[in-house]
Amino acid sequence: MKIFLIGFMGSGKSTVGVDLAHILGYRFIDLDEYIEQKHNLSIKLIFETKGEDYFRMIENETLKEVCSFEGDFVISSGGGTSCFYNNIDYMNRNGITVYLRAEVSTLVARLIESKVDRPLLWGKTKDELNEYIIRVLNERKKYYEKAQVIIDADNANPKDLAQLIISTV
Ligand code: S3P
Repeated sequence: MKIFLIGFMGSGKSTVGVDLAHILGYRFIDLDEYIEQKHNLSIKLIFETKGEDYFRMIENETLKEVCSFEGDFVISSGGGTSCFYNNIDYMNRNGITVYLRAEVSTLVARLIESKVDRPLLWGKTKDELNEYIIRVLNERKKYYEKAQVIIDADNANPKDLAQLIISTV
């Protein structure tokens, strides 16, 4: 069984994913970390030196690679993984998809702290970040909302969210 966590940057996919995998006794893969290890380059450097299209291509390839692994996994995807190359349909065919839905205000508050590690957010002021999230979330939600399970991820702590996912899937 594979459980895919999807959703915008800052929605808590990686944190919740670790707890979820731990409780279920599944293995955990963070797709961004897996890409960094495989290519021996940080996501930052991949964007900087090769550009976003290249990143999307290897992100897509890596998703297919981890899906070929035998066994039970919780896979925390990147915020864009499910929105390119029809990946949401691929994920729906290959496991259970869980969208961690969060309000724009929650995402802004979290991402203002951690934008340095996220190339798409570099150099943005708080207002620009707010506008960016509204616009991109609006473009992406048609993909995110194809998930089989939708969980509101604004207020609960990661362990409670993991329990909520278990009780829902
Ligand atoms: C991206 C999200 C990031 C990472 C890359 C692009 C996106 O992952 O894959 O910076 O397009 O939303 P997180 O959602 O884990 O931050």
